[in-house]
Amino acid sequence: MSAAPRPSEASPPGTAEAPSGTAEVAGAPSGSRTTVLGIETSCDETAAAVVDGGRLIRSSVVSSQVDLHARYGGVVPEIAGRAHVELVTPVVAEALAVAGLADVPQGMAAVAATCGPGLVGSLLVGISEAKALAMAWDVPFVGVNHLEAHLFASLLEAPGLGWPLVVLLVSGGHTLLVEMAAPGHYRLIGQTLDDAAGEAFDKVARYLGLGYPGGPAIDAAAGHGDPEAFDFPRALAGEGFDFSFSGLKTSVVRTVERRPDAETADVAASFQQAVVDVLVTKARRAVAAVGAAGLCLAGGVAANSLLRRRIAEVCAEDGVPAYLPSREMCTDNAAMVAAAGWWRLGHDGPSPMSLGADPNLFLPLSG
Ligand code: KG4
Ligand code: ZN
Repeated sequence: MSAAPRPSEASPPGTAEAPSGTAEVAGAPSGSRTTVLGIETSCDETAAAVVDGGRLIRSSVVSSQVDLHARYGGVVPEIAGRAHVELVTPVVAEALAVAGLADVPQGMAAVAATCGPGLVGSLLVGISEAKALAMAWDVPFVGVNHLEAHLFASLLEAPGLGWPLVVLLVSGGHTLLVEMAAPGHYRLIGQTLDDAAGEAFDKVARYLGLGYPGGPAIDAAAGHGDPEAFDFPRALAGEGFDFSFSGLKTSVVRTVERRPDAETADVAASFQQAVVDVLVTKARRAVAAVGAAGLCLAGGVAANSLLRRRIAEVCAEDGVPAYLPSREMCTDNAAMVAAAGWWRLGHDGPSPMSLGADPNLFLPLSG
C-alpha cells in the first residue's frame, strides 16, 4: 500500500507553462464543506483519497492487486472483487488517517466512487462503501465516471490550464482522443477500432513472457533494446484520428515465429516505438485540427517513458504546452475520482442512492 500526501500545486516535471487567458475549473459547490473522499475500485487497484476543493490532495492511497493477478497473466474479475472487499475499508481508513481526519470527518462535502466503466463486481464494492459512509456521515454520495476522472487527473496537477485541451486518454480499456472545451464538455475526436493501447502492451508482454502488467514490463525491456530492429506496422497513421492495434500485435507474433532468435528487448523496443509513433502522430494532428491550447496525457499508458518524452518533444517543437501528469496520476488512483466528484457535485448535485454500477459507461459527450 502506498500513501502519498502530495501538494497539488507541484508542477509535473517536463511540462510547459499554461498560456495566459486560462480558465478555472468552474462549477464546484460553494459552502464551507470542501473535502471529498474518493474511492476507486474499477479494476485491480483499491484506492482512496482525500481532496480539498477539487484541487489539494491531502492523501492518496493505492493498494495494487498486481501480485494476486500476476500468476494468471491478467486481472481475474472474481479475485479482484474479493480483494476489493478485503482492502477497501483499510484503504479508506488509511486515506482518512493520512489526511488527518478522525472517524467522523469534519468538513466532508461528499463521498465519491467510480461507478463505471470497469468490472461490475469490483465497481459495486467501491459504490457500496461510498454509499455506506455517505449515509453514516449524512453527506451526499457522488457516482463518478472513471474516464472523466482520468481527464481530471491532469487538471489536478496543472491548475490554470487553457481551453480547449486535447486529451490523449490511453488506458487498459480505452484509447481516446478527446477535445475538452472545459470540464464536462467533451467531444470525441478519435478512438481505437479494436484493442486499446494498454491492452496491446499487456498482450504483447504476455506473449513475450515479460509478465503482467505488460506496459511497465515492455517499458523496462525496451530500455535495453533497439527500436529500429523491427519495422512493425503503424496502422492508419497517415489518415484521420482513429487507432488500430490488433494488427500490430499479430505482426509481433508472426515476427517472433519467423525469428525465434530475436532479442526480446529489440522486439519490445520496436513494438513500443510503433505504438508511440501512432499515438504521437494522431495527438499532434488533433491539436492542430482543434487549435488546442494544450495537450494532456491521461490513463495508465501515459506513464510510458517513450510516450512522455516524444509528446514533450513534439509539443515543444509546435509551441504547444504539454501537460504530463505524474505517473501516479496516470494510473488508477482515487484523487482523480475525488476531483471529478467535487466538480460533478457542483454541476449536477448528488447522485441518487439507487445509482448502480455501469460496466460499459462511456465519457459523457456534448453536442
Ligand atoms: O488507467 P489504468 O491504470 O487502468 C485502466 O483504467 O485501464 O491503465 C492500465 C494500463 C495497463 O494496460 C498497463 O499495462 C498500462 O496502463 N501501463 C503502461 C505503463 N504503465 C501502465 N503502458 C505502457 N507503459 C507504461 N509504463
Ligand atoms: Zn483507469
